[in-house]
Amino acid sequence: MAIASFADKGADLELVGITKRFPGFTAIEALDLSIPAGSFFALLGPSGCGKTTTLRLVAGLEEPTAGRILIGGKDVTSTKPFQRPVNTVFQSYALFPHMTILENVAFGLRRRKVGDPVAKAHEALRLVELDHLAARRPAQLSGGQQQRVALARAIVNRPALLLLDEPLGALDLKLRRQMQLELKTIQTEVGLTFLHVTHDQEEAMTMADTVAVMNKGRIEQMGAPEELYELPRTAFVANFLGQSNLFTGQVTGSSADAIVVDVAGVPITVPRTRAKRHAGEVTIGVRPEKVSLLTEAPAPDSARNVLGPGRVTDVSFSGVSTQYLVQVPGVGELTVFAQNMVFGPVVHEGAEVWISWNADHGFGLEDDPADGPRFAPDDSTESIAVQRRIALEEELEQA
Ligand SMILES: Nc1ncnc2c1ncn2[C@@H]1O[C@H](COP(=O)(O)OP(=O)(O)OP(=O)(O)O)[C@@H](O)[C@H]1O
Ligand SMILES: [Mg+2]
Repeated sequence: MAIASFADKGADLELVGITKRFPGFTAIEALDLSIPAGSFFALLGPSGCGKTTTLRLVAGLEEPTAGRILIGGKDVTSTKPFQRPVNTVFQSYALFPHMTILENVAFGLRRRKVGDPVAKAHEALRLVELDHLAARRPAQLSGGQQQRVALARAIVNRPALLLLDEPLGALDLKLRRQMQLELKTIQTEVGLTFLHVTHDQEEAMTMADTVAVMNKGRIEQMGAPEELYELPRTAFVANFLGQSNLFTGQVTGSSADAIVVDVAGVPITVPRTRAKRHAGEVTIGVRPEKVSLLTEAPAPDSARNVLGPGRVTDVSFSGVSTQYLVQVPGVGELTVFAQNMVFGPVVHEGAEVWISWNADHGFGLEDDPADGPRFAPDDSTESIAVQRRIALEEELEQA
């Protein structure tokens, strides 16, 4: 009976108004999510934001407090886990130690009395390039190989929906990258729907067609990786998916093409189409790799934004690029990534520099800057002293 519900191709997944409350704690709040069949969807977010809980709800291992779950258009909210066309690869990929690799993979098929389990298990092992190790036991494989067996064991069941909970967490960086590409290839080849959970933004961006950024049980933004990176909607997304230089200021000018924002007395231009808010106090930003460092004040150019002079406070070399921290009075600390085209840092700590970027590269957030003290207004010693005092007072009050 369960066999019929396991598919040869992917199914849509839809979460409608899902809320999950544990005693005294709301882990998921009014979550809506729609994943088209055959896509590779990544759920990305920091530790504790509710990723595993979401997967457990989809798998049927938890019951939602409110909302509905639909797989392939069918409401499965009140069905048992084994009745759902879903398989999960957990981070700890417990294989049966006493069984061979082949038997581990064939296990689910045998239990469900699917015909030809051995041939099917071999086929799944070929897909993860491990068929030559079919006769070994898990302890005789490396961690990465075991991970691939766990994947074969899930894929062999042809679940319409495959849930992956940080399945590459235990691998070293190189193997992880390799497995990311392999997983992506497998997904394209078998055409199943993958829901992949990770807190690694690079992993999410490399693998997924669509990324949903989750924060405190809610989805802050969802879209193609390029779109999320280029046009983050909130400060959380701007900083979780890569790094951003963010500035808050008043909109002082507006034309058909652009808005102008006053950042510590300097007019900064942002294309209208790249800014979510066009009036009042706004937060705008630019990615560190879009910014150049100049050692002299540049000639005025309406196509470029310039801040400075500031001072380089830190230079850190990271292989392909160098990261510079620059303190600009009244604005704060900015980050600049420069590709390492020449040997050694171009600018040294303590140098006086200007920061410049193409006005087309900025973005404007949807966040209301008045919503909370996400950013310190500036980093002057006076404001730091005030912040310290407030923090201390709060601490004393609590004590
Ligand atoms: N059974 C439970 N009872 C109470 N709270 C729970 C329970 N399970 C999870 N939580 C809480 O719900 C929140 C979300 O947990 P979840 O495991 O979904 O996080 P996650 O996004 O997967 O994090 P990580 O990246 O660390 O795995 C956490 O704050 C967690 O403490
Ligand atoms: Mg988790």
